[in-house]
Amino acid sequence: GAPVRADISKLEAGQQMVVKWRGKPVWIVRRGEEALSNLQGLSARLIDPDSVNPQQPDYIPGDSNRSLRPDISVLVGICTHLGCSPTYRPELAPEDLGADWVGGFYCPCHGSRFDLSGRVLKGSPAPQNLVIPPHMYEDDNIIVVG
Ligand code: FES
Repeated sequence: GAPVRADISKLEAGQQMVVKWRGKPVWIVRRGEEALSNLQGLSARLIDPDSVNPQQPDYIPGDSNRSLRPDISVLVGICTHLGCSPTYRPELAPEDLGADWVGGFYCPCHGSRFDLSGRVLKGSPAPQNLVIPPHMYEDDNIIVVG
């Protein structure tokens, strides 16, 4: 498949955009300061906080951001359980997800939970973090996926 270009110039903090790459949804989310700081405190609640399982290209750091740029997260939007597409739920402590929800992705099929870096929370049926696709920045506003 051909690489896909995404223009993130209009993407504001807290917003998600979706592009199609090889028939799969790829999510691009711009994270604000509060979201980034929340990600740092989640390790004890995660199955693989340092992304030791190879779910991302080598050049993506296995830290709480899992990204080339702290503000931008790029993820394949397919649950690592049985392949549903999780829902973007950036809000804090929504009624249906509970007081400890700090924003992330919720899979409606069997309830897997992922943080805003695509790291899977303990207690989810999904065994692994979400996949990060190969990508690079052509300039400040253009991401090339693939
Ligand atoms: Fe997502 Fe089962 S497919 S929880």
